[in-house]
This record gives sequence, structure tokens and C-alpha cells, in this order.
Amino acid sequence: MAKIIGGMGTSHVPGAGAAMDNGKTQDDYWRPLFEGLTPLREWHKNNVPDVNIIVFNDHATSYSLDAYSTFTIGVGEEFQPADEGWGPRKVPVVKGHPELAWHIVESAMAEEFDLAIAGSLDVDHGLTVPLSLAYDQPDAWPAAVVPVCVNVIQHPLPSALRCYKLGQAIGRAVRSFDDNLTVGIWGTGGLSHQLGGERAGVVNPDFDKKFLDNLTQDPLANTTMSHTDFIREAGCEGVEMIMWNVMRGALNDDVNEVFRLYHIPVSATAYGAIILENA
Ligand code: DHB
Ligand code: FE
Repeated sequence: MAKIIGGMGTSHVPGAGAAMDNGKTQDDYWRPLFEGLTPLREWHKNNVPDVNIIVFNDHATSYSLDAYSTFTIGVGEEFQPADEGWGPRKVPVVKGHPELAWHIVESAMAEEFDLAIAGSLDVDHGLTVPLSLAYDQPDAWPAAVVPVCVNVIQHPLPSALRCYKLGQAIGRAVRSFDDNLTVGIWGTGGLSHQLGGERAGVVNPDFDKKFLDNLTQDPLANTTMSHTDFIREAGCEGVEMIMWNVMRGALNDDVNEVFRLYHIPVSATAYGAIILENA
């Protein structure tokens, strides 16, 4: 049976991708972030799974706001880096894993989780920046990817608890996949940030720290907050944090935190990353 080897949460700030793409990671502004990521990259070097399930959001890149599904899973053979206005990032094509993706669809559907299915899906910074943060600049990504896209853009959004339950359903699906695959699960976005409006630039270290602590010690505490709570405390785009609940739900109740980084500022955000292994 397939096995989950660990979970990662990470912000997906597009500027961090641009810093890598344009050779700026050693600039004064970016060096602290990329130095801080050294142990995260070391962990990934030592823990390359067959497949990473990457929970991310499309930023109105591939989806128009006319039709926005709550949860979408990519079942295609490959996914192209999206053009977000400056041409696609020059990063490797993202290879899919249709067999695992379809198994998740069927297993989740049988549990009344009706995922939208995408054969083709161009993936924006929400998915490609975490790959670059983890794996740097390889010629090909070392693992296949099953993209799981969550609507955190067009309200009403799925609840924080619904995201956790989706993660639990994905975890059960992986554990019932009849192949000895190793699987990673990533949640992306956050932490506190707001890109526009009167409160643009808001960050909330106390809230972020509590969210990270809860992920390890009391994950259900992160499922009881409303979107208003997230937006009030962590800014409009801070609500992306609910995607980390999908990652957490797929792991065991007891986990070991093996890495954490928290750094302000990265662009307009409080950058956070965490790696959790099943205890
Ligand atoms: C920024 C952060 C995001 O999560 C995002 O999707 C776009 C921009 C930023 O801080 O620049
Ligand atoms: Fe985002």
C-alpha cells in the first residue's frame, strides 16, 4: 500500500520564485530566507517520495471567476507552468500521477467528497514556487505531483474544518492505494498577509505562531476558526492558511515537527514553513 512519508506547509510567495529564477537568492533581501531554507532542502534531498500531493490555490490564473470549483484534482499526465503575465516561469514541466489521482477521486467520492476533475491545468506560483523552494533548480522535478486546487479566492470558501476533512479523506485514499508508492503532502499559501485594501501589509506573528504550534500539537484548534477570524487576524490572503489543514488532515494524529522557519518580511507576507513526519 502507498505510504505518506511526511507533510510540508510553506508560503508560495511569487517573489521568492522570481528571486531564484533571476539569480537573486544571495542578495541582502533574500539571503536570510534561502539560508533559513537550507535544512528544509536537506530534508527533501533525503526524503524524495514517488509523488507529492500539492494542495495549492490558483490565483485566477487558470480559472476565471465565472466558474470556480471548491476542490479540484489534477488527473493529467503533466501540468504546464502557467503564464501569470510575464510568461511562464522557466521551471520543469510538472509530471502528474494519473493512477494515484484517479484513485483519490474514487476513494473520496465514495466518502461523499465530490472533487472536480481536471485533465489539464496550468499551475501558477501557488504550486511551482513551493517546488522551487524544496528542490531548487533541477532539470526535472524529482517526484511526480498530484495537484489539489482549493478555492480560497471566490467566496464562499470551504471551511477550515472541511479542508481538514478533505485531508483525512486523501490520507485514507493514499493508504488504500494498492502500490508501494511513497507520498508527500504539501499545503501552500499564507502565512499572514494582505495584498490590497486599507490593511495591506498586515502580518500577525502571534497568530501565525499559534497556527504553527497547533499544527503540531492540536490540529483541530485550527479547524474551528471562521474565514472572518482568519481574515481579521491574518489578512485577506492569510485565509490561504486553510490549505495547510488539508496537509495536516492527511497525516496521523501524532506527528513530529522536524523543521520550522518563520521570517518577516518576504514580499508582503510573513513567510512560514513547517515539515511534519508521522510519529
Ligand atoms: C504574494 C503572496 C501570495 O501568497 C500570493 O499569492 C501573491 C503575492 C506576495 O506577498 O507578494
Ligand atoms: Fe497566494
